[in-house]
Amino acid sequence: MTQASANDYLFLRACRREQVERTPVWMMRQAGRYMPQYRAIRKNVTFLELCKSPELACQVTLQPIDEFGFDAAILFCDILIPLEAMGMELDFTPAPILPKPIENAADVDRLVVPDPVATMPYVFDAIRLIRKNLEGRVPLIGFAGAPFTMATYAIEGSGSKSWPKTKSLLFGQPEVAHALLEKLSDCVATYLEAQVAAGAQAVQLFDSWAGILAPRDFREFALGYTKKVIHKLRASATFADNNVPIIYFVNGCAPYLDDYASSGADVLGVDWRVDIDRVRERVGPDVALQGNMDPTCLFLPPDGIRERVKEVLDKVGNQPGHIFNLGHGILKMTDPEHVRVMVEAVREFSTR
Ligand code: CP3
Repeated sequence: MTQASANDYLFLRACRREQVERTPVWMMRQAGRYMPQYRAIRKNVTFLELCKSPELACQVTLQPIDEFGFDAAILFCDILIPLEAMGMELDFTPAPILPKPIENAADVDRLVVPDPVATMPYVFDAIRLIRKNLEGRVPLIGFAGAPFTMATYAIEGSGSKSWPKTKSLLFGQPEVAHALLEKLSDCVATYLEAQVAAGAQAVQLFDSWAGILAPRDFREFALGYTKKVIHKLRASATFADNNVPIIYFVNGCAPYLDDYASSGADVLGVDWRVDIDRVRERVGPDVALQGNMDPTCLFLPPDGIRERVKEVLDKVGNQPGHIFNLGHGILKMTDPEHVRVMVEAVREFSTR
């Protein structure tokens, strides 16, 4: 594809808030266990083996594109892979486990800011292979965890409901937390730059757990470091030359909307706990919005799904700059046929 036509993708035009003929749609976690095709590949390999095999990662990235016709592909990998490259042990059961979590300044000192291409070559091989196999059908989204969400796993050693170790470290040893977030920001920025150099056409920063923070802590520990990453990316020729949109997703964004609007991202991800028209009122017209149907609405019968899709599209109205998505990742018990109903409803109700 030539450079000019590469910029014609519906998804990329919506990220840039251009008028589009219909609303593009993709789903966070669109490649995964709800798909029988994914489970068939996954039964022969571990999750980490899947992430580290460019051929298999390419196959599962394309599965939801072939099956449902989403308007963007997202690289198959995990936000925690770079923690391993930084020197931490990592396993999935399938929930992530880091047996030696960060507890003090010495632990942070031991972490390295890795050369992404030398330490995670399979990621960039997968990106090149996916681009080749997509044959220009839809653009490829690269991604990373936002520094704060990566820090929650590095400190907690696993997922959590209330993240007690994370909050104890943030509030009790803030200098250690800041040193960790600083290293993570450098790691994430160089990692995303290398993804774009390999062929990613947009990038998303996942801040899945930033919503656990009080507003002042969100500004200090989450938004501040995402801004640093975005600032670095904006200064990079790789990003500027390719006009690569940056998407920032905060799960539980409603309490922080004024700050959220100042992130510097081109697109803000919106979870389902807030009405998307209210978000638009608060953040203004200069940023695109991505979201925000509750993932559990996919458990409804087809008519119910269609009604919920229409509700999101009606709230957005005719304003440019909307990408349809779920408010968080799809759940593994979802019926794939219901995903098809959602995608078709977005196409039907949004065609102008
Ligand atoms: O979106 C996609 O299709 C691309 C692939 C992708 C995965 N994880 C695959 C995956 C992406 C973008 C992620 C991001 C990710 N990973 C996030 C941010 C998004 C979110 O959901 O908040 C987070 C927090 C993680 C950490 C992580 N990885 C968790 C909590 C788990 C366990 C999930 C569970 O339901 O048990 C994983 C494992 C994981 N990552 C799976 C997949 C398909 C399941 C692994 C398996 O096949 O066994």
